[in-house]
Amino acid sequence: MQLPVLSESKTAIAVAALVVASVFSVPRAMAGGDAARGEALGQTCLSCHGIEGYRNADPPYRVPKLGGQKASYLNTALRAYRNGTRQDPTMIALAASLTDQEMADVAAYLVSLGNDAVAAGGSPGGSSKEVRNCGACHGQNGIGLSPGWPTLAGQHEDYLVHALNQYRTGARQDPVMVSLTSSLSDETIVSLAKYYSSLDGLRTTKVE
Ligand code: HEC
Ligand code: HEC
Repeated sequence: MQLPVLSESKTAIAVAALVVASVFSVPRAMAGGDAARGEALGQTCLSCHGIEGYRNADPPYRVPKLGGQKASYLNTALRAYRNGTRQDPTMIALAASLTDQEMADVAAYLVSLGNDAVAAGGSPGGSSKEVRNCGACHGQNGIGLSPGWPTLAGQHEDYLVHALNQYRTGARQDPVMVSLTSSLSDETIVSLAKYYSSLDGLRTTKVE
């Protein structure tokens, strides 16, 4: 698939610096999660995240797939909803009352539902310039290279567009992603989302 050019070699240098900065920003005090303890709470989550292609009337994009996602990233995202650095009202309401331990447990439970596609290494992945830039963290094949870097392969296209727009407008405040998306055009965002959603990877989290 052809993607529009993101920018010059300066981007590659900036990305390398961000990779180093970002490796150290994984939540250090992350509690160890217990999947068995997280199961009861997890049933609430599956009422949206466990339904294939589920879409609320509001928001108008599909609920993200969590099957095969990184436990560490799920914890980071839940904390961001709880402290208001992510804006989604549904997830803010759900995360508001969760302790760090409950977040770790529910993340461990959701991750334990497994994902063979990610475990098997996903798709071969592309080699265009922007895939190389994004791939420094998210992997050429869209499978995150470190626990704090989410897997994008197989995620819903409309959710990826929404997430990238949220970083671009500052509605999500992760400094790395805000700086990387600030100069992306609508067109580039859509083509990146199409690319990552077309790869094999994440699945809707379901109890088999
Ligand atoms: C009513 C539907 C609904 C329920 C129930 C729900 N979620 Fe969500 N969840 C969403 C939506 C919608 C989003 C996307 C929010 C956004 O745009 O940031 C989301 C996003 C997330 C994300 C971020 C994923 C990513 O790729 O960044 C995590 C993690 C998450 N939810 C975990 C949970 C957990 C854990 C529970 C149960 C405690 C839960 N959700 C229950 C609708 C729901
Ligand atoms: C330096 C490492 C790094 C690079 C390079 C990078 N990202 Fe990210 N990305 C992250 C981190 C860390 C997060 C989690 C941020 C958060 O907590 O909200 C993230 C989150 C995302 C998300 C949200 C995923 C979700 O499930 O909500 C998308 C989409 C994304 N990145 C796409 C991209 C694209 C497209 C590029 C290339 C233009 C890119 N990223 C480059 C580190 C990186």
